[in-house]
Amino acid sequence: MTILHINSSIRGEQSHSSRLAGLLADKLKTAYPASPIIFRDLAQTPPPLLDPAALQALFTPPEQRSAAQQDRIAMDDRLIAEVQQADHIVLGVPMYNFGIPAQLKAWFDAISRTGVTFRYTANGPEGLLTGKKVHLALAFGGLHRGTPHDLVTPYLQTALGFLGMTDLTFIHAEGLAMGEDIAKAALQQAEAEVAALAV
Ligand SMILES: Cc1cc2nc3c(=O)[nH]c(=O)nc-3n(C[C@H](O)[C@H](O)[C@H](O)COP(=O)(O)O)c2cc1C
Repeated sequence: MTILHINSSIRGEQSHSSRLAGLLADKLKTAYPASPIIFRDLAQTPPPLLDPAALQALFTPPEQRSAAQQDRIAMDDRLIAEVQQADHIVLGVPMYNFGIPAQLKAWFDAISRTGVTFRYTANGPEGLLTGKKVHLALAFGGLHRGTPHDLVTPYLQTALGFLGMTDLTFIHAEGLAMGEDIAKAALQQAEAEVAALAV
């Protein structure tokens, strides 16, 4: 049983999503004390952008790759291996400018590799990262859940589901920029939801 814990906030100690993700990870550690934990702070060590050089490296046969191309692919390989070996994944996700942080998008770009983490069949796409439970702590400044403004929750459902990760538990903390009282109540509710969660 391996736990992969990933934070993506750029707000360091101030981050609500990272704090809530920490509570989720603590809960898993208590439930599975012998489990190894892999921790990644994507803001501290962002995956490199999917750029023309990276795409070129991916489409170059392994034996023909330059040293720089091998290094570039090796970084993505590491991130893929972490997800492959994880049984439980905890993601801390803030909303920035209506989307997920660019660093988290770069992580999705890194782990989405055809033939490795998904493939296309005659029946359509098939995700290959199956059998994992994903616990997500989301932090929004406004109130978006269930409205067309929430581009974060459906994106995560789609991007994770495409790769085979369909067992998702969302904890939302919303209205965090709407004054102290609303933020406090939202965080208390999110913490209560984490506490009540069966992992
Ligand atoms: C650069 C930036 C952009 C943001 N954009 C949005 C936004 O589009 N919608 C929203 O509801 N809140 C927005 N917020 C508020 C954050 O969602 C809120 O601060 C939340 O706590 C961020 O998660 P974190 O504390 O884990 O970093 C933004 C905050 C920052 C710093």
